[in-house]
Amino acid sequence: MSERTIRISDEAAGKVLEAPVISGSEGDPTIDIAKLYKELGYFTYDPGYSVTASCSSDITFIDGAQGILRYRGYPIEQLAERSNFVEVAYLLLYGELPSATEFSEFERDITYHTMVHDQLNTFIKGFRYDAHPMAIMAGITSSLAGFYHDQMDIDDPEQRNLAAKRLIAKMPTIAAAAYRHHVGWPICYPRNSLNYCERFLDLMFSVPAEPYKVNPVAARALDLLFILHADHEQNASTSTVRLVGSTGANPYACVSAGISALWGPAHGGANEAVLRMLNEIGDVSQVGKYIDKAKDRDDPFRLMGFGHRVYKNYDPRAEIIRKACHDVLADLGVTDPLLDLAMKLEKIALEDDYFVQRKLYPNVDFYSGIIYKALGIPTSMFTVMFAIGRTVGWVSQWLEQSANPGRIGRPRQVYTGKQQRDYQAIDQRG
Ligand code: CMC
Repeated sequence: MSERTIRISDEAAGKVLEAPVISGSEGDPTIDIAKLYKELGYFTYDPGYSVTASCSSDITFIDGAQGILRYRGYPIEQLAERSNFVEVAYLLLYGELPSATEFSEFERDITYHTMVHDQLNTFIKGFRYDAHPMAIMAGITSSLAGFYHDQMDIDDPEQRNLAAKRLIAKMPTIAAAAYRHHVGWPICYPRNSLNYCERFLDLMFSVPAEPYKVNPVAARALDLLFILHADHEQNASTSTVRLVGSTGANPYACVSAGISALWGPAHGGANEAVLRMLNEIGDVSQVGKYIDKAKDRDDPFRLMGFGHRVYKNYDPRAEIIRKACHDVLADLGVTDPLLDLAMKLEKIALEDDYFVQRKLYPNVDFYSGIIYKALGIPTSMFTVMFAIGRTVGWVSQWLEQSANPGRIGRPRQVYTGKQQRDYQAIDQRG
């Protein structure tokens, strides 16, 4: 515990709290106000939790002012260039990079948990053909709890670990099945001979009629995007996972809640919204008009893929994805006018006073959709792709929380409704 304190005094009431200042291993100092109500009788008000640390965590570090992101201390740029998604999953889950043996055991475990109970495919078939795949993902993930009720003792570290691996392994299988349901293709079963990303592409695009050959460029591009999406400390969906986790709910319910939170356009739904926005803008000649719309307070339009609660600098993930976008499109021999449009939009926005003053930069979602599109992944699946990568972060954070369970998450409110009044019989109401 820190020796430094911040004095919070209510002079009128003659009460003082010496609130300890907590310093993590990095990052801004944080005032511990846990005793505030007991000592001074006040709550704190922080809608949107802009200045509230909800937990302490060893997993991911972000410095928003400098545009820094690290998983377990490793810079995202190094992991993006030199690691792979399964290794990053191991790192996030267990805190260290694996040895060669640890890696192959972990990869094998993930591979052998990719199949889902066949009854789950019946559930998927129960959805309308045009159901949004995120609705299917949330529903099916939550229903996994119905298949493993004997292996969900959250007080047992082995069962927690098993659930974590199952979630990481099965998410691509469920995602691809949701897509195939939409296009009317038969469900495809996972192939153990392929690696995580190759297997996902095979699950998505192979058909019984002819052999499917995975393009290694596509598999590597997907791997990169999953690495970049894997964790991002206490964002809305991860905080949702932790809040649900604080109740002692099972891991499938927690991750399903995370998927639902991710779906919103202010969060993971932004990658789908970016592609729709670029298509709506249509041509570089229209960029100015849309920039003006984004700046107009009376217009609900926002530049999707721009701005971030924490980054007040270029999102380091966006920097990596923008470069990858050019490389992947070139390697796949794809030309997409949407990339030119996105670059023009970015250039104009970054020179515009409105965006400069508010420190609004492209975020992870701005360019990712252009890569997904080049890989043949339909727009409605973009947020699902985010969910596959982020599952690793959700389960890592859930494991960390479950190893040291704290109190149930229970925020308070500033009540602004009616004060006490008496009930009136229906014939006496004015
Ligand atoms: N276009 C136009 N104006 C914007 C935008 C935008 N994309 N983002 C923020 N602003 C303005 C906002 O209107 C406000 O202006 P003012 O101070 O005049 O009222 C100012 O910038 C600060 O914005 P805020 O809404 O207070 O910021 P926030 O931290 O609450 O919201 C955000 C962050 C990401 C929700 C928001 O920037 C946004 O809606 N961006 C578009 C959606 C998006 O790309 N989301 C993906 C986020 S990154 C990946 C992820 O988390 O999943």
